Amino acid sequence: MMDPPRHDALRNLVSMAFTPRRIQEMEPRVRAIARELIDGFAGRGHCDLLDEFARHLPSRVIGEMIGVPPERREAFLECTEQMIGASPESGNAGAIAAPAAKIYQEFAKLLDERRRERRDDLMSALLDARIDGESLSQEDLLGFCFVLIVAGNDTTTNLLANGAVMLAHHPEQRRMLVEDPSLIPNAVEEMLRYESPAQVLPRRTTEPVEIHGVTVPAGQEIKLIWAAANRDEREFADPDRFDIRRDIRRHLALGIGIHFCLGAKLLRLEARVGFEELLARIPEYKLESEPRWLHSTWARAYRGVPIRFDPVG
Ligand code: HEM
Repeated sequence: MMDPPRHDALRNLVSMAFTPRRIQEMEPRVRAIARELIDGFAGRGHCDLLDEFARHLPSRVIGEMIGVPPERREAFLECTEQMIGASPESGNAGAIAAPAAKIYQEFAKLLDERRRERRDDLMSALLDARIDGESLSQEDLLGFCFVLIVAGNDTTTNLLANGAVMLAHHPEQRRMLVEDPSLIPNAVEEMLRYESPAQVLPRRTTEPVEIHGVTVPAGQEIKLIWAAANRDEREFADPDRFDIRRDIRRHLALGIGIHFCLGAKLLRLEARVGFEELLARIPEYKLESEPRWLHSTWARAYRGVPIRFDPVG
């Protein structure tokens, strides 16, 4: 919701935590979390993959990065889910505002703790950061923590859950990934394209813009429907076919331009490692019932993903 030059200055600050090297260094930790979560249900022979795996992997990773203590993670997760699940069309603005306010309050407390004692986390780094010699305002600090926790939680959860469902619907493609895990990164791109976790985001035009022969006047709020662009037959042959071997040159699941997803490398790491670990332990699984979609304007998300498989040690 911010334009340059302030957007660039703030984005550059936090980009330091998302450099290729920093993200690569996180791989062993992401893998350890994924294994620990799978240990929790592998021997049982059934689980809700969304509740027990997809929901926790991103939240633990981003929580540890920002510096959310483990015992407060669940509260953040619940608030994020309430916000994403709330529909702006319902006319009940409080359904979004109340959990958002709770996230701000919780971060205000954590930032106070960090002011007293720094740790090796993003909150401490942001408190020490300077733009033109000035530290960040409380509003900017809270805004950062808020956007990172909200952007970092739910979208990646849905990528993992939606992808797992796609692989249940297409067992032959799942077997290809089991046999050749080097195909997983491209499969993740196809999952992003086919069931884009972030379906739509708003923009306001600052000047008249022509789009396919239609002129949108200045000052107009428009919705960018990334998910529709990702099924555009001018860009993707047979776009409604899920194909992990598709040659995906570009999709819009992570946006485009100056606001392109800051967490792109992180979510790609989480999804690759998540599917590597899941398919190595549970190569064959079936849906217990067809999962139901959540009713949401912007999130492509299931309510749950119950699966059954042969128990493994
Ligand atoms: C599958 C997972 C994800 C999806 C589908 C996704 C999608 C997107 C999209 C579409 C945008 C563009 C917003 C716009 O143009 O208005 C965006 C921006 C952003 N994403 Fe992600 N994202 C994901 C994961 C993450 C993660 C893990 C983080 C990191 C914590 C993150 C942080 C951000 C931030 C900070 C922005 C705003 C960047 C800016 O305005 O400069 N995202 N994301």
